Amino acid sequence: MTLLIKNGQIVTADRQYTADILIEGETISLIGEHLIVPEGTETIDATGQYVFPGFIDPHVHVHLPFMGTFAKDTHATASQAALIGGTTTFIEMLAPAGSDELRDGWNTWSRMAEGHSACDYTFHIGVTRWDEDTERTLRELVASGMTSFKVFLAYKGAFGIEDATLYRTLTLAKELGVVVTAHCENAELVAQLQAKLLSEGKTGPEWHEPSRPEQVEADGTAHFATFLEMTGAEGYVVHLSNARSLKAALDARRRGVNIHIESVIPHFLLDKTFAERPGVEGAKHVMSPPLRDKANQTALWQALKDGEIDTVATDHCPFDVQQKRMGEDNFTLIPNGIPAIEDRVNLLYTYGVSRGALSLNRFVDAASTRAAQIFGLYPKKGAIEVGSDADLVVYDPAYRGRISAETSHVNNDYSGFEGFEIDGRPSVVTVRGQVAVRNGAFVGEPGRGQLLRRAPQAEQKGRAPA
Ligand code: URP
Ligand code: ZN
Ligand code: ZN
Ligand code: ZN
Repeated sequence: MTLLIKNGQIVTADRQYTADILIEGETISLIGEHLIVPEGTETIDATGQYVFPGFIDPHVHVHLPFMGTFAKDTHATASQAALIGGTTTFIEMLAPAGSDELRDGWNTWSRMAEGHSACDYTFHIGVTRWDEDTERTLRELVASGMTSFKVFLAYKGAFGIEDATLYRTLTLAKELGVVVTAHCENAELVAQLQAKLLSEGKTGPEWHEPSRPEQVEADGTAHFATFLEMTGAEGYVVHLSNARSLKAALDARRRGVNIHIESVIPHFLLDKTFAERPGVEGAKHVMSPPLRDKANQTALWQALKDGEIDTVATDHCPFDVQQKRMGEDNFTLIPNGIPAIEDRVNLLYTYGVSRGALSLNRFVDAASTRAAQIFGLYPKKGAIEVGSDADLVVYDPAYRGRISAETSHVNNDYSGFEGFEIDGRPSVVTVRGQVAVRNGAFVGEPGRGQLLRRAPQAEQKGRAPA
C-alpha cells in the first residue's frame, strides 16, 4: 500500500515548507518535491491545506470508575472521536482504586483497549497504593514499555496517595528513569473546604471552585516540586489551571527541578462562570482543578506561546447529564470531568493560531511533538520524518463550523464547548499509513490501534529540555 500526500504545507514543531510525502506501508518513506512514486499509489491533494504530524493527547480517561459511576466512552468511541479531531495517539490514565491491586488494574485497562481502539495508545500507570506487589508490578510494567507513572495528590479516599507513597514512587521512577505525572491539589484542604461550604448550606456547582481554590492547587504543585527536588525524579504536572500554580512550577524549574507542565483545553477557553450556571448546566462544567477566573487564561496563553507550558491535553472525561445530576444537592458528588478529545486540536488551532498569536510551530509542538518527546514516543510519533509512523493530519483551514453535542462522536449527551466556532478541521487523517478519517467521518478500521511500548525516558534520544 502506497499513499502520496501532495502539495501540502508541512508544519512540524520547527519547520514549515511545501513538499510531498510518500507513505509506504505504515511509515513515511520519502519527503520532497516532484517525487517519483510507484504505480498504483493513491494520491491525496493537500493544496491549500496544512499537513501536521498526528496529534497526541497525553491525558485522557476512557475507562474510569470514579465517584460511584463510570465515564461514558468505550475505547471504540473515544478513539474514533479522537481521530476525527486529528488525535492519532492518546495516553490514558490507568487509575485503579486504591483498594485494588495494580496488576488487576493493568489487566482490566489493557484488555478493554486491545482490539477496540482505532488509534494508537499507551498508558500512564496510576500508583494509587504502595506495597511489595505494587512495586514488583511497576518494575514489570516499566520493563514492558509502560514508562510513565501517574499519581493523584487529590481525591482522598479514592485515587489519592499519602506523602510516603509519593516519595517511594518518585524514588523508584528516578531509579528506572521514568517520568511521573501528577494531579496537584492539596487533598486535606479540599476536604476541609468542602465540609465547611456544605455546612454553610452552599451545595450548588458554583461552590466547586471555592472548595479547591487556586492556592490549593499552587500548594499541591509546590509540594510535588519539592518531592521531585528531594528525589531527583522527572515530573510532569497535569492540567495546571492558573497563574499561581504556573508560578510555583516555573519557580521550581528555575531552581533546577526537572518538571514539565501540561494545561488542558478547558482551562484555556472556559472560565468559572460556566460552572456558576444554575443546576445541571453548571455541573456540566465541573472538573478538577476547577474552571478558574478568566484572568488566568491570559497567563496560560502567554506561557503556552513562550513554551513554558509544554503540552496542551484534554483530561477528556465524559459523564452524561444524568450522571452530572448525581450532585444536584451536593456539588462534591458531581462526577468531575469535561469531554474534549474530539475538539482539542480544532479549538487550539482556532483560538490559538487562527484568532490568537500562537505560532503554527508551537501549536504542533504543544499538541503533538513535546508529548512524544517527554513520553518516549519521538520520533516514531510527533514528527514528519522519513521512518516516522505515517500518522498525518491534512488540515483544512478554510473549514468553518461549530461544536455541538449533536454532531460529536464522543459517547455523551452534552458538550462543554457547545456553540464554539471552529476555523478549521482535519480533512484526512492517517494512522500508520491507513486513511482513518475523511471530512469529519471515521472511515478506518475499528480496533486497529496498537499499544505503544516505550523505552524509559532516560534512554531516549531527542528529548525536550525540561
Ligand atoms: O475533573 C477531572 N479532571 N476528572 C478526571 C479525573 C482527573 O482528575 O484527572
Ligand atoms: Zn486530575
Ligand atoms: Zn485526568
Ligand atoms: Zn518540559
